[in-house]
Amino acid sequence: MPSDSLTVHTICQGLDLPDWVLDFRDCAGDKVIFGPGRLAELGLEVSLLEGTHALLVTDPGIANAGLADKAFDSLRQHGIACSTFAEVRENPTTEDVERCAAFAEAEGINVIIGLGGGSSLDTAKGCNFLLTNGGRMQDYWGIGKATHRMLPFIAVPTTAGTGSECQSFALISDAKTHAKMACGDPKCAAATTILDPELTITMPHSVTAHTGIDAIAHALESAVCTKRNDVSLAYSYAAWRLLDSGFPIVTESGSDLEARSAMQIGAAFAGVAIENSMIGIAHSCANPLTAHYNIVHGLAVGVMLPHVIEFNQSDPTAGATYRLFSSHIPLADRVREHLRLCGMDQSLRELGVERSQIPLLAAEAAKQWTAQFNPIPVDAAALEKVYQAAW
Ligand SMILES: [Fe+2]
Repeated sequence: MPSDSLTVHTICQGLDLPDWVLDFRDCAGDKVIFGPGRLAELGLEVSLLEGTHALLVTDPGIANAGLADKAFDSLRQHGIACSTFAEVRENPTTEDVERCAAFAEAEGINVIIGLGGGSSLDTAKGCNFLLTNGGRMQDYWGIGKATHRMLPFIAVPTTAGTGSECQSFALISDAKTHAKMACGDPKCAAATTILDPELTITMPHSVTAHTGIDAIAHALESAVCTKRNDVSLAYSYAAWRLLDSGFPIVTESGSDLEARSAMQIGAAFAGVAIENSMIGIAHSCANPLTAHYNIVHGLAVGVMLPHVIEFNQSDPTAGATYRLFSSHIPLADRVREHLRLCGMDQSLRELGVERSQIPLLAAEAAKQWTAQFNPIPVDAAALEKVYQAAW
């Protein structure tokens, strides 16, 4: 397909999705635009939001890859001043957000742009809380704790993974306690999201694999958790179909723009699904693996996911959803095929996890917020079984 004919409608052709899904009606943000090269419209979008001085939040890798330069060009063409904070780190902490906010405060900005992966978008959102509502990030742990209006925020994801661009949550870790805080407020959602698949072409293979599997987990977990509903299920299903067909192509040939588009739209749909539902125990089990063994999020979620599906399939509704999503082979096996394509079909043992640590991991996983939404209620003993299966 020529790149100028890549649209949400053409990418989703044949999937028989309702118009309200194609239009991102239930996205936390206001407006989603998609298309190759549309980063060039950044300056226009800032103008439409009446911004005159932007804060661009990004990481050093994105800045060095030249992606930020394209953003600067567009802003310059519309006469918009720009101050850049290019110090975003993976899994941003309260200290990262405080540094970003202190920088922004001194610069006198009136619009915020997040350019990068989930960490950049979350740092940008966190900064917006502190700039406009004061206090510390810990004050906003939970939902709807901000009282003042926030600055307009534009999300420009460069990975296809977290779906943060369609959510009203910033995930920020407490620098002292390491607790991962979900700080949610409708006011922090993106006023505009720009999905430009060309930005995802330069992702390293491992990042494509890890973020892609994470997005797949978002689609599958949001589809069966106890907060699922007809609206979220429509986005989960759309996300899964796009990710399931796009993933084998992007892991084989990273420059395929059509498959990159499917992944980017799929990850964003999965973000909308989470916003309207929740996630589940693949994520509950993954967080302790990241905390204790430094296993990257997408890999940790990926190694748990087939075992979580097998654990949940005795629940009648979850089982029926899994069969709807994958009618020819069991869904867990389909996920394993994806993991195999990129060398992620590993056991916890192969990843260096000691079997003796499983009770500790399970106890921590049971305390995660996400664990309470699993279709089959779980406690530490049940999660121990899931970890054992993955070991
Ligand atoms: Fe995730």
